[in-house]
Amino acid sequence: MTALAFSLMAMSAAAAAGGASKPAEVTIASPVYHETYRPQFHFTAEKNWINDPNGLVYYKGEYHLFFQHNPKGINWGNMTWGHALSPDLVHWQQLPNAIEPDGLGTIFSGSAVVDWNNTAGFQSGDENVIVAIYTAAGGTSPESQGRPFTQCIAYSNDRGRSFTKYDGNPVLKHIVKDNRDPKVIWHGLTKRWIMALFLDGETFALFSSPNLKEWTHLHDLKLPGCGECPDFFPLAVEGQPGKLKWVFTAANGKYFVGDFDGQKFTPEGDLQQVDFGKNYYAVQTYSDIPESDGRRIQIAWMNGGKYPEMPFNQQMSFPCELRLRRLPGGMRVFRTPVKEIEALHARTHRWRDVILKPGDNPLAGVARELFDIRAEFELREATEVGIKAHGEAITYSAKDKRLNCLAASAPLEPVDGKVRLQILVDRTSIEVFGNDGRVSLTSCLVPQGPTRLECFAAGGTARIVSLTAHELRSAWR
Ligand code: FRU
Repeated sequence: MTALAFSLMAMSAAAAAGGASKPAEVTIASPVYHETYRPQFHFTAEKNWINDPNGLVYYKGEYHLFFQHNPKGINWGNMTWGHALSPDLVHWQQLPNAIEPDGLGTIFSGSAVVDWNNTAGFQSGDENVIVAIYTAAGGTSPESQGRPFTQCIAYSNDRGRSFTKYDGNPVLKHIVKDNRDPKVIWHGLTKRWIMALFLDGETFALFSSPNLKEWTHLHDLKLPGCGECPDFFPLAVEGQPGKLKWVFTAANGKYFVGDFDGQKFTPEGDLQQVDFGKNYYAVQTYSDIPESDGRRIQIAWMNGGKYPEMPFNQQMSFPCELRLRRLPGGMRVFRTPVKEIEALHARTHRWRDVILKPGDNPLAGVARELFDIRAEFELREATEVGIKAHGEAITYSAKDKRLNCLAASAPLEPVDGKVRLQILVDRTSIEVFGNDGRVSLTSCLVPQGPTRLECFAAGGTARIVSLTAHELRSAWR
Protein backbone atom coordinates (compact mmCIF):
# COMPACT_ATOMS: atom_id res chain seq x y z
CA MET A 1 0.00 0.00 0.00
CA THR A 2 1.28 3.49 -0.80
CA ALA A 3 1.63 6.25 1.76
CA LEU A 4 -1.17 8.14 0.04
CA ALA A 5 -3.41 5.11 0.46
CA PHE A 6 -2.48 5.07 4.15
CA SER A 7 -3.30 8.77 4.31
CA LEU A 8 -6.80 8.17 2.93
CA MET A 9 -7.36 5.46 5.55
CA ALA A 10 -6.09 7.77 8.30
CA MET A 11 -8.36 10.58 7.09
CA SER A 12 -11.45 8.38 7.03
CA ALA A 13 -10.58 7.07 10.52
CA ALA A 14 -10.24 10.67 11.72
CA ALA A 15 -13.52 11.59 10.07
CA ALA A 16 -15.22 8.62 11.73
CA ALA A 17 -13.85 9.78 15.08
CA GLY A 18 -15.25 13.22 14.33
CA GLY A 19 -11.96 15.12 14.25
CA ALA A 20 -8.20 15.09 13.70
CA SER A 21 -6.55 11.72 14.37
CA LYS A 22 -4.90 11.51 17.77
CA PRO A 23 -1.66 9.64 18.39
CA ALA A 24 -2.51 6.24 19.83
CA GLU A 25 -1.67 5.65 23.49
CA VAL A 26 1.05 3.01 23.73
CA THR A 27 2.81 1.34 26.61
CA ILE A 28 6.56 0.89 26.33
CA ALA A 29 7.19 -2.33 28.21
CA SER A 30 10.95 -2.47 27.65
CA PRO A 31 13.79 -0.02 27.11
CA VAL A 32 13.61 1.84 23.77
CA TYR A 33 14.90 -0.20 20.80
CA HIS A 34 14.46 -3.49 22.67
CA GLU A 35 10.66 -3.71 22.72
CA THR A 36 8.93 -6.97 21.76
CA TYR A 37 8.50 -6.13 18.06
CA ARG A 38 11.40 -3.69 17.56
CA PRO A 39 13.55 -4.63 14.54
CA GLN A 40 17.11 -5.12 15.77
CA PHE A 41 19.05 -4.25 12.61
CA HIS A 42 16.51 -2.40 10.47
CA PHE A 43 15.84 1.29 10.89
CA THR A 44 12.71 2.38 12.78
CA ALA A 45 12.05 5.80 14.34
CA GLU A 46 12.29 5.93 18.10
CA LYS A 47 8.59 6.63 18.07
CA ASN A 48 5.72 7.26 15.66
CA TRP A 49 5.11 6.70 11.98
CA ILE A 50 7.65 6.55 9.12
CA ASN A 51 7.29 5.73 5.42
CA ASP A 52 9.50 6.45 2.39
CA PRO A 53 13.29 6.80 2.69
CA ASN A 54 14.12 10.35 1.51
CA GLY A 55 17.27 12.30 0.75
CA LEU A 56 19.66 9.33 0.87
CA VAL A 57 23.06 11.02 0.60
CA TYR A 58 26.59 10.27 1.76
CA TYR A 59 28.91 13.06 2.89
CA LYS A 60 32.19 12.88 4.82
CA GLY A 61 31.82 9.42 6.33
CA GLU A 62 28.12 9.77 7.16
CA TYR A 63 25.18 8.04 5.51
CA HIS A 64 22.14 10.30 5.87
CA LEU A 65 18.73 8.68 5.98
CA PHE A 66 15.93 11.23 5.85
CA PHE A 67 12.47 9.74 5.92
CA GLN A 68 8.77 10.52 5.71
CA HIS A 69 7.74 10.94 9.32
CA ASN A 70 4.72 11.87 11.39
CA PRO A 71 6.35 13.35 14.50
CA LYS A 72 2.95 13.61 16.18
CA GLY A 73 1.34 10.24 15.64
CA ILE A 74 1.55 6.51 15.16
CA ASN A 75 -0.25 6.71 11.77
CA TRP A 76 0.48 8.62 8.54
CA GLY A 77 0.07 12.43 8.70
CA ASN A 78 1.87 15.76 9.29
CA MET A 79 4.54 14.76 6.79
CA THR A 80 7.94 16.00 7.94
CA TRP A 81 11.45 14.87 6.98
CA GLY A 82 12.85 12.88 9.90
CA HIS A 83 16.60 12.31 9.98
CA ALA A 84 19.00 9.55 11.00
CA LEU A 85 22.74 9.12 10.51
CA SER A 86 24.97 6.10 10.23
CA PRO A 87 28.70 5.55 9.83
CA ASP A 88 28.16 2.09 8.30
CA LEU A 89 24.53 1.59 7.10
CA VAL A 90 23.97 -0.70 10.09
CA HIS A 91 24.08 1.47 13.25
CA TRP A 92 21.68 4.45 13.09
CA GLN A 93 21.24 7.44 15.31
CA GLN A 94 18.08 9.51 14.99
CA LEU A 95 18.63 13.29 14.89
CA PRO A 96 16.11 16.14 15.24
CA ASN A 97 13.66 16.45 12.34
CA ALA A 98 15.25 18.08 9.29
CA ILE A 99 12.46 19.76 7.29
CA GLU A 100 9.13 20.85 8.76
CA PRO A 101 5.81 21.67 7.05
CA ASP A 102 5.15 25.32 6.09
CA GLY A 103 2.60 27.44 4.22
CA LEU A 104 3.46 25.68 0.93
CA GLY A 105 2.49 22.28 2.31
CA THR A 106 3.61 19.33 4.35
CA ILE A 107 6.94 17.85 3.25
CA PHE A 108 6.51 14.85 0.96
CA SER A 109 9.22 12.61 -0.52
CA GLY A 110 12.33 13.72 -2.35
CA SER A 111 16.09 13.38 -2.54
CA ALA A 112 19.34 15.09 -1.52
CA VAL A 113 22.63 15.79 -3.28
CA VAL A 114 25.99 17.30 -2.42
CA ASP A 115 26.42 20.45 -4.54
CA TRP A 116 30.20 19.97 -4.98
CA ASN A 117 30.53 22.87 -7.48
CA ASN A 118 28.24 25.23 -5.55
CA THR A 119 26.01 25.49 -8.62
CA ALA A 120 23.13 26.86 -6.51
CA GLY A 121 25.38 29.40 -4.77
CA PHE A 122 24.24 28.36 -1.28
CA GLN A 123 27.72 27.64 0.15
CA SER A 124 28.65 29.96 3.02
CA GLY A 125 31.59 28.17 4.68
CA ASP A 126 34.10 25.39 4.10
CA GLU A 127 31.62 22.54 3.99
CA ASN A 128 30.09 21.55 0.67
CA VAL A 129 26.35 22.14 0.69
CA ILE A 130 23.81 19.35 0.96
CA VAL A 131 20.69 20.34 -0.99
CA ALA A 132 17.37 18.60 -0.33
CA ILE A 133 14.80 18.55 -3.13
CA TYR A 134 11.29 17.70 -1.92
CA THR A 135 7.60 18.05 -2.68
CA ALA A 136 5.64 20.71 -0.82
CA ALA A 137 2.26 18.98 -0.64
CA GLY A 138 -0.07 21.98 -0.78
CA GLY A 139 -3.55 21.40 0.59
CA THR A 140 -2.51 18.65 3.02
CA SER A 141 -2.49 20.97 6.08
CA PRO A 142 -4.66 23.85 7.26
CA GLU A 143 -1.74 26.28 6.59
CA SER A 144 -1.48 25.24 2.92
CA GLN A 145 -5.18 25.03 2.00
CA GLY A 146 -5.81 25.86 -1.65
CA ARG A 147 -2.16 25.42 -2.71
CA PRO A 148 -1.01 22.79 -5.23
CA PHE A 149 1.81 20.21 -5.02
CA THR A 150 5.12 21.87 -6.04
CA GLN A 151 8.85 21.01 -5.89
CA CYS A 152 11.04 22.93 -3.43
CA ILE A 153 14.62 22.94 -2.16
CA ALA A 154 16.35 23.46 1.19
CA TYR A 155 20.10 23.59 1.89
CA SER A 156 22.52 22.76 4.66
CA ASN A 157 25.96 24.28 5.25
CA ASP A 158 26.59 22.18 8.37
CA ARG A 159 26.76 18.57 7.14
CA GLY A 160 23.01 18.09 7.23
CA ARG A 161 22.54 19.22 10.84
CA SER A 162 20.20 22.08 9.85
CA PHE A 163 18.37 23.08 6.65
CA THR A 164 17.29 26.49 5.35
CA LYS A 165 14.45 26.60 2.84
CA TYR A 166 15.30 28.52 -0.35
CA ASP A 167 13.39 31.82 -0.39
CA GLY A 168 12.63 31.40 -4.11
CA ASN A 169 10.59 28.20 -3.53
CA PRO A 170 8.96 26.51 -5.34
CA VAL A 171 11.67 25.78 -7.92
CA LEU A 172 9.27 23.73 -10.05
CA LYS A 173 5.67 24.88 -10.27
CA HIS A 174 2.64 22.65 -10.25
CA ILE A 175 2.29 20.60 -13.45
CA VAL A 176 -0.50 18.11 -12.88
CA LYS A 177 -2.55 16.59 -10.04
CA ASP A 178 -0.35 15.47 -7.11
CA ASN A 179 2.97 15.57 -9.06
CA ARG A 180 5.68 14.66 -6.56
CA ASP A 181 8.79 12.82 -5.34
CA PRO A 182 11.72 14.56 -7.12
CA LYS A 183 14.91 12.46 -7.37
CA VAL A 184 17.95 14.43 -8.52
CA ILE A 185 21.32 13.28 -9.84
CA TRP A 186 24.34 15.15 -11.26
CA HIS A 187 25.03 14.34 -14.94
CA GLY A 188 28.76 14.94 -15.32
CA LEU A 189 28.88 14.85 -19.15
CA THR A 190 26.39 17.71 -19.65
CA LYS A 191 27.20 19.36 -16.28
CA ARG A 192 23.52 19.47 -15.46
CA TRP A 193 21.32 18.25 -12.65
CA ILE A 194 18.69 15.75 -13.81
CA MET A 195 15.40 15.35 -11.94
CA ALA A 196 13.07 12.37 -12.24
CA LEU A 197 9.55 13.26 -11.09
CA PHE A 198 6.29 11.38 -10.73
CA LEU A 199 3.49 13.20 -12.57
CA ASP A 200 0.25 11.18 -12.41
CA GLY A 201 -1.12 7.72 -13.23
CA GLU A 202 1.83 5.79 -14.63
CA THR A 203 3.56 8.87 -16.10
CA PHE A 204 6.91 10.20 -14.96
CA ALA A 205 9.08 13.03 -16.35
CA LEU A 206 12.73 14.08 -16.58
CA PHE A 207 13.93 17.68 -16.13
CA SER A 208 17.39 19.30 -16.23
CA SER A 209 18.89 22.27 -14.43
CA PRO A 210 22.26 24.03 -14.22
CA ASN A 211 21.70 25.17 -10.63
CA LEU A 212 18.87 23.24 -8.91
CA LYS A 213 16.72 26.38 -9.11
CA GLU A 214 15.59 26.56 -12.77
CA TRP A 215 14.31 23.40 -14.37
CA THR A 216 13.68 22.53 -18.03
CA HIS A 217 11.32 19.72 -19.00
CA LEU A 218 13.13 17.03 -21.04
CA HIS A 219 10.43 14.43 -21.66
CA ASP A 220 7.77 12.23 -20.09
CA LEU A 221 7.85 8.45 -19.88
CA LYS A 222 5.42 5.76 -18.76
CA LEU A 223 6.17 2.80 -16.52
CA PRO A 224 3.17 0.47 -16.98
CA GLY A 225 1.40 -0.25 -13.70
CA CYS A 226 3.79 1.92 -11.68
CA GLY A 227 3.57 5.24 -9.82
CA GLU A 228 5.35 7.44 -7.24
CA CYS A 229 8.96 7.77 -6.05
CA PRO A 230 11.08 7.51 -9.22
CA ASP A 231 14.83 6.91 -9.09
CA PHE A 232 17.22 7.32 -12.02
CA PHE A 233 20.90 6.33 -11.98
CA PRO A 234 23.73 4.76 -13.99
CA LEU A 235 25.03 1.27 -13.22
CA ALA A 236 28.21 -0.34 -14.53
CA VAL A 237 27.60 -3.53 -16.51
CA GLU A 238 29.39 -6.39 -14.75
CA GLY A 239 32.20 -7.88 -16.79
CA GLN A 240 32.16 -5.03 -19.34
CA PRO A 241 34.65 -2.45 -18.04
CA GLY A 242 33.67 1.13 -18.88
CA LYS A 243 30.13 0.18 -19.96
CA LEU A 244 27.34 2.10 -18.22
CA LYS A 245 23.59 1.71 -18.51
CA TRP A 246 20.88 3.84 -16.90
CA VAL A 247 18.17 2.40 -14.68
CA PHE A 248 14.79 4.06 -14.03
CA THR A 249 12.85 2.63 -11.08
CA ALA A 250 9.38 3.42 -9.70
CA ALA A 251 8.21 3.18 -6.07
CA ASN A 252 7.47 -0.55 -6.40
CA GLY A 253 11.04 -1.17 -7.57
CA LYS A 254 10.06 -2.17 -11.13
CA TYR A 255 12.60 -0.85 -13.58
CA PHE A 256 13.64 -0.08 -17.12
CA VAL A 257 17.28 -0.37 -18.21
CA GLY A 258 18.38 1.87 -21.07
CA ASP A 259 20.61 4.66 -22.33
CA PHE A 260 20.67 8.34 -21.39
CA ASP A 261 22.47 11.08 -23.31
CA GLY A 262 21.68 13.95 -20.96
CA GLN A 263 18.44 14.76 -22.85
CA LYS A 264 16.59 11.54 -23.44
CA PHE A 265 16.29 8.22 -21.64
CA THR A 266 15.72 5.38 -24.11
CA PRO A 267 14.61 2.16 -22.38
CA GLU A 268 15.49 -1.20 -23.96
CA GLY A 269 13.29 -4.24 -23.36
CA ASP A 270 10.38 -4.61 -20.98
CA LEU A 271 9.81 -3.46 -17.44
CA GLN A 272 11.62 -5.79 -15.01
CA GLN A 273 11.25 -6.68 -11.34
CA VAL A 274 13.90 -7.80 -8.86
CA ASP A 275 11.94 -7.96 -5.58
CA PHE A 276 8.76 -10.02 -5.21
CA GLY A 277 8.19 -9.65 -1.45
CA LYS A 278 5.12 -8.31 0.35
CA ASN A 279 6.76 -5.22 1.82
CA TYR A 280 9.04 -3.45 -0.67
CA TYR A 281 8.08 0.07 -1.70
CA ALA A 282 9.29 3.65 -2.22
CA VAL A 283 12.79 2.46 -3.12
CA GLN A 284 15.56 5.02 -3.30
CA THR A 285 19.35 4.82 -3.83
CA TYR A 286 22.17 6.81 -2.24
CA SER A 287 23.62 9.88 -3.87
CA ASP A 288 27.32 10.79 -3.69
CA ILE A 289 28.79 7.42 -2.68
CA PRO A 290 32.51 8.05 -3.35
CA GLU A 291 33.87 6.69 -6.64
CA SER A 292 36.45 4.67 -4.69
CA ASP A 293 33.50 2.73 -3.24
CA GLY A 294 31.39 2.83 -6.39
CA ARG A 295 28.34 1.02 -5.05
CA ARG A 296 24.71 1.90 -5.82
CA ILE A 297 22.95 1.31 -2.48
CA GLN A 298 19.17 1.07 -2.17
CA ILE A 299 16.78 1.25 0.78
CA ALA A 300 13.05 0.47 0.61
CA TRP A 301 10.20 1.24 2.97
CA MET A 302 8.89 -2.15 4.19
CA ASN A 303 5.35 -0.85 3.74
CA GLY A 304 2.54 -2.40 5.72
CA GLY A 305 4.46 -4.24 8.45
CA LYS A 306 2.53 -4.74 11.72
CA TYR A 307 3.96 -3.85 15.15
CA PRO A 308 1.21 -4.47 17.72
CA GLU A 309 1.25 -2.08 20.70
CA MET A 310 4.61 -0.60 19.73
CA PRO A 311 5.55 3.11 20.12
CA PHE A 312 6.83 3.15 16.50
CA ASN A 313 5.24 2.17 13.19
CA GLN A 314 6.96 0.85 10.00
CA GLN A 315 10.56 -0.10 9.22
CA MET A 316 13.08 0.36 6.41
CA SER A 317 14.58 -2.55 4.47
CA PHE A 318 18.19 -3.53 5.04
CA PRO A 319 20.37 -1.48 2.62
CA CYS A 320 21.19 -3.44 -0.53
CA GLU A 321 23.78 -3.08 -3.26
CA LEU A 322 22.45 -3.07 -6.84
CA ARG A 323 24.49 -4.57 -9.69
CA LEU A 324 23.73 -4.94 -13.38
CA ARG A 325 24.36 -8.15 -15.32
CA ARG A 326 23.75 -8.99 -18.94
CA LEU A 327 21.75 -12.25 -19.07
CA PRO A 328 20.54 -14.03 -22.22
CA GLY A 329 17.14 -12.24 -21.82
CA GLY A 330 18.70 -8.78 -21.41
CA MET A 331 20.11 -6.53 -18.68
CA ARG A 332 18.98 -7.40 -15.14
CA VAL A 333 19.43 -5.69 -11.79
CA PHE A 334 20.76 -7.92 -9.00
CA ARG A 335 20.20 -6.94 -5.36
CA THR A 336 22.14 -8.15 -2.29
CA PRO A 337 22.60 -6.91 1.31
CA VAL A 338 25.54 -4.54 1.77
CA LYS A 339 28.63 -6.28 3.14
CA GLU A 340 28.45 -4.11 6.29
CA ILE A 341 26.01 -6.69 7.73
CA GLU A 342 29.20 -8.54 8.71
CA ALA A 343 29.70 -5.92 11.45
CA LEU A 344 26.90 -7.72 13.31
CA HIS A 345 28.11 -11.29 12.76
CA ALA A 346 28.48 -13.09 16.09
CA ARG A 347 28.70 -16.89 16.42
CA THR A 348 28.89 -18.78 13.12
CA HIS A 349 27.62 -22.31 12.43
CA ARG A 350 28.94 -24.06 9.31
CA TRP A 351 28.12 -27.18 7.31
CA ARG A 352 29.69 -28.43 4.12
CA ASP A 353 28.79 -31.26 1.76
CA VAL A 354 25.93 -32.78 3.78
CA ILE A 355 23.33 -35.15 2.36
CA LEU A 356 19.91 -33.81 3.35
CA LYS A 357 17.13 -36.42 3.54
CA PRO A 358 13.47 -35.63 4.19
CA GLY A 359 13.16 -35.38 8.00
CA ASP A 360 16.78 -34.30 8.58
CA ASN A 361 17.43 -30.94 10.23
CA PRO A 362 21.09 -30.04 10.71
CA LEU A 363 20.03 -26.67 12.15
CA ALA A 364 18.07 -28.20 15.04
CA GLY A 365 20.46 -26.97 17.72
CA VAL A 366 20.57 -23.36 16.53
CA ALA A 367 17.92 -21.36 18.37
CA ARG A 368 18.52 -17.61 18.26
CA GLU A 369 16.53 -14.72 16.89
CA LEU A 370 18.66 -12.78 14.37
CA PHE A 371 20.52 -14.38 11.47
CA ASP A 372 22.41 -13.89 8.25
CA ILE A 373 22.13 -17.32 6.60
CA ARG A 374 23.94 -18.27 3.41
CA ALA A 375 23.22 -21.60 1.78
CA GLU A 376 23.91 -23.46 -1.42
CA PHE A 377 21.77 -26.49 -2.20
CA GLU A 378 22.19 -29.12 -4.90
CA LEU A 379 18.60 -30.11 -5.64
CA ARG A 380 19.17 -33.77 -6.71
CA GLU A 381 15.89 -35.71 -6.22
CA ALA A 382 14.27 -33.22 -3.82
CA THR A 383 11.13 -31.40 -4.97
CA GLU A 384 11.67 -28.75 -2.30
CA VAL A 385 14.55 -27.50 -0.17
CA GLY A 386 14.67 -24.63 2.24
CA ILE A 387 15.11 -23.04 5.61
CA LYS A 388 12.55 -22.26 8.30
CA ALA A 389 12.91 -19.19 10.50
CA HIS A 390 10.29 -17.76 12.86
CA GLY A 391 8.30 -20.87 11.91
CA GLU A 392 8.04 -19.57 8.32
CA ALA A 393 9.37 -21.66 5.44
CA ILE A 394 11.66 -20.14 2.85
CA THR A 395 11.21 -22.77 0.18
CA TYR A 396 12.75 -23.37 -3.21
CA SER A 397 10.35 -25.47 -5.26
CA ALA A 398 12.31 -27.44 -7.86
CA LYS A 399 9.07 -28.34 -9.65
CA ASP A 400 7.84 -24.75 -10.14
CA LYS A 401 11.32 -23.20 -10.18
CA ARG A 402 10.10 -20.64 -7.65
CA LEU A 403 11.40 -19.21 -4.40
CA ASN A 404 8.62 -18.76 -1.83
CA CYS A 405 8.42 -16.98 1.51
CA LEU A 406 5.57 -15.47 3.53
CA ALA A 407 2.92 -15.85 0.79
CA ALA A 408 5.17 -14.21 -1.82
CA SER A 409 6.87 -15.97 -4.69
CA ALA A 410 9.65 -15.22 -7.21
CA PRO A 411 10.66 -17.14 -10.35
CA LEU A 412 14.20 -18.51 -10.07
CA GLU A 413 16.06 -20.86 -12.40
CA PRO A 414 18.57 -23.21 -10.77
CA VAL A 415 22.16 -22.88 -12.00
CA ASP A 416 23.80 -26.26 -12.75
CA GLY A 417 21.15 -27.97 -10.57
CA LYS A 418 21.92 -25.70 -7.62
CA VAL A 419 20.35 -22.69 -5.88
CA ARG A 420 22.06 -20.22 -3.60
CA LEU A 421 20.22 -18.33 -0.86
CA GLN A 422 21.03 -15.51 1.51
CA ILE A 423 18.45 -14.86 4.23
CA LEU A 424 18.38 -11.96 6.71
CA VAL A 425 16.18 -12.75 9.70
CA ASP A 426 15.24 -9.87 11.98
CA ARG A 427 12.57 -9.78 14.69
CA THR A 428 9.77 -8.69 12.34
CA SER A 429 11.13 -9.35 8.84
CA ILE A 430 12.67 -11.92 6.53
CA GLU A 431 14.61 -10.82 3.43
CA VAL A 432 15.55 -13.58 1.00
CA PHE A 433 18.02 -13.24 -1.89
CA GLY A 434 18.15 -15.99 -4.53
CA ASN A 435 21.18 -16.79 -6.73
CA ASP A 436 23.31 -13.81 -5.71
CA GLY A 437 20.40 -11.35 -5.84
CA ARG A 438 18.82 -12.36 -9.17
CA VAL A 439 15.54 -12.07 -7.21
CA SER A 440 14.69 -11.03 -3.67
CA LEU A 441 11.70 -11.32 -1.34
CA THR A 442 11.39 -8.50 1.20
CA SER A 443 8.62 -9.28 3.70
CA CYS A 444 7.46 -8.45 7.22
CA LEU A 445 5.88 -10.73 9.81
CA VAL A 446 4.67 -10.67 13.39
CA PRO A 447 6.70 -13.43 15.07
CA GLN A 448 4.65 -16.05 16.88
CA GLY A 449 7.26 -17.35 19.32
CA PRO A 450 10.95 -18.18 19.58
CA THR A 451 12.89 -18.73 16.35
CA ARG A 452 13.90 -22.33 15.73
CA LEU A 453 15.86 -22.73 12.59
CA GLU A 454 15.24 -25.65 10.34
CA CYS A 455 16.88 -26.78 7.13
CA PHE A 456 14.76 -29.22 5.15
CA ALA A 457 14.37 -31.22 1.98
CA ALA A 458 11.10 -32.77 0.76
CA GLY A 459 10.15 -35.30 -1.93
CA GLY A 460 13.67 -36.74 -2.12
CA THR A 461 17.27 -36.21 -1.09
CA ALA A 462 19.17 -32.98 -1.68
CA ARG A 463 22.75 -32.03 -0.84
CA ILE A 464 23.87 -29.05 1.21
CA VAL A 465 26.89 -27.80 -0.71
CA SER A 466 27.48 -25.26 2.05
CA LEU A 467 25.42 -23.71 4.81
CA THR A 468 26.56 -20.90 7.06
CA ALA A 469 24.32 -19.45 9.75
CA HIS A 470 25.76 -16.31 11.30
CA GLU A 471 24.00 -15.30 14.49
CA LEU A 472 23.68 -11.52 14.52
CA ARG A 473 24.09 -9.03 17.34
CA SER A 474 21.51 -6.29 17.75
CA ALA A 475 22.55 -2.99 16.16
CA TRP A 476 21.03 -1.17 19.16
CA ARG A 477 23.87 -1.47 21.65
C1 FRU B 1 4.86 6.97 -1.40
C2 FRU B 1 4.23 8.33 -1.13
C3 FRU B 1 4.87 9.41 -1.98
C4 FRU B 1 4.61 10.64 -1.18
C5 FRU B 1 4.75 10.14 0.23
C6 FRU B 1 3.86 10.82 1.22
O1 FRU B 1 4.67 6.10 -0.34
O2 FRU B 1 2.82 8.26 -1.33
O3 FRU B 1 4.36 9.46 -3.29
O4 FRU B 1 5.52 11.67 -1.45
O5 FRU B 1 4.48 8.77 0.20
O6 FRU B 1 4.15 10.39 2.53
